[in-house]
Amino acid sequence: MHSYDLAIKGGTVVTAADQYRAEIGVRNGKIVEISENVSGARQEIDATGLLVLPGGVDGHVHMSQPTDDGTIMADDFESGTRAAAAGGNTTVMPFALQIKGKSLRACVEDYHKEAEGNCYVDTSFHLIVSDPTPQVLGQELPALVKDGYTSFKVFMTYDDLVLSDAELLDVFQVAKEENALVMVHAEGHDAIKFMTRKLEAAGKTAPFYHGQSHSRVAEREATHRAVSHAELVDVPIVIVHVSGRDAMEQVQWARKRGLKVYAETCPQYITLVEDDMKGLNMDFEGAKYVCSPPPRDLDSQAAIWEGIRDGTFDIFSSDHCPFRYQGSGGTGKDNPKARTSFKWVPNGIPGVETRLPIFFSEGVTKGRISIQKFVDLTSTRPARLYGMYPQKGTIAIGSDADFALWDPGMQKTITQDILHHGSDYTPYEGFKVTGWPVKTVLRGKVIADDGRIVGEKGYGAYMSRGFSDAF
Ligand code: URP
Ligand code: ZN
Ligand code: ZN
Repeated sequence: MHSYDLAIKGGTVVTAADQYRAEIGVRNGKIVEISENVSGARQEIDATGLLVLPGGVDGHVHMSQPTDDGTIMADDFESGTRAAAAGGNTTVMPFALQIKGKSLRACVEDYHKEAEGNCYVDTSFHLIVSDPTPQVLGQELPALVKDGYTSFKVFMTYDDLVLSDAELLDVFQVAKEENALVMVHAEGHDAIKFMTRKLEAAGKTAPFYHGQSHSRVAEREATHRAVSHAELVDVPIVIVHVSGRDAMEQVQWARKRGLKVYAETCPQYITLVEDDMKGLNMDFEGAKYVCSPPPRDLDSQAAIWEGIRDGTFDIFSSDHCPFRYQGSGGTGKDNPKARTSFKWVPNGIPGVETRLPIFFSEGVTKGRISIQKFVDLTSTRPARLYGMYPQKGTIAIGSDADFALWDPGMQKTITQDILHHGSDYTPYEGFKVTGWPVKTVLRGKVIADDGRIVGEKGYGAYMSRGFSDAF
């Protein structure tokens, strides 16, 4: 008779607040003992020399998301969650996108059908509100929040998603009434369109010019507008994928006024620069780095690190938004329309599998941040902010037995052939890291082991969520 289903022995447990030698006993998928010595388990994992971290919680990924231009997202739930598992994650949060003219509830149900039975890690959906009709604002959103969809994203740009200021304010008001958290894509649509027209008129159509069209000014202005609307409504918001100093300063300005403004940044803003979008020689290869907001420059990277250290950033997510470079029938980044102008290049890059190793290596290994900060921004804080804590995001009695067993000294070079995502490239090709997830454990079961997926498709479960700790 075994007391535990699983024991993790000999490792160093790390949480957002602590670090200590301990062994962990797991029963029925939950942590039931943390002590000096755990014995009597059906299965033991020897974690000698490893860090035992809470499984990564990636609060911002896109999988199986419909597009309106004939391109196809490179990851469905199967490949996307497989990549997440290999990268040390146990929970991911994709977006259920409302298609304009369609009921939000119907879109959420369709999205569940895509995910059902296909996931290797646990998932929970944010909503994207693209069409805030009276029916959506008055009935659908309040009912969906009550059903555990407690966060939604709004866009200040993209023709098919942009909301007017009046619509943003209406959505913020519903969020306030329902205690839901709004995530804001803050880039000013008109400023982007203005710059795009100017660049195209000057014949500047290569992918590189995406960076100039999605300017820092457009990001800064929209961030200011978003926090101002939040002040007017008196509601907490999250500014997602902050790319550099300008938008960061707006978040800091808002916080000085006492506003509850949260901020997210992502791996691309500490590793990539605008010049990556030049490709080899202003060629189309630069499309591999096109995302929004775009990567900026080395000064912006330094600013992001300042913001990570000083608490401006609450969460570090991947914004995994994968397209193939070469997709069949024009479904990838390299499609005939995109060759005519940067404005048609699908926005987004893959990153769910590389988020944790890149941040650990650039942050913890290089001595920029503590390992507690790493755990906080990549697991604990997203779990709290999005209403999943303490079930997710920590190592504590009663929490889900979700772990990333981490070798802090393992050196790896990131290359496409070691990754599990559906994209045909990685923007981090050749990037060297020290520190790697060697095993991922979800609710007591090993799901990834030394780069091999050993979990079962469908073991990943859907979680409805409670309220954010932002309220
Ligand atoms: O370029 C990006 N990030 N596209 C994905 C959609 C979004 O705005 O997060
Ligand atoms: Zn966005
Ligand atoms: Zn995104």
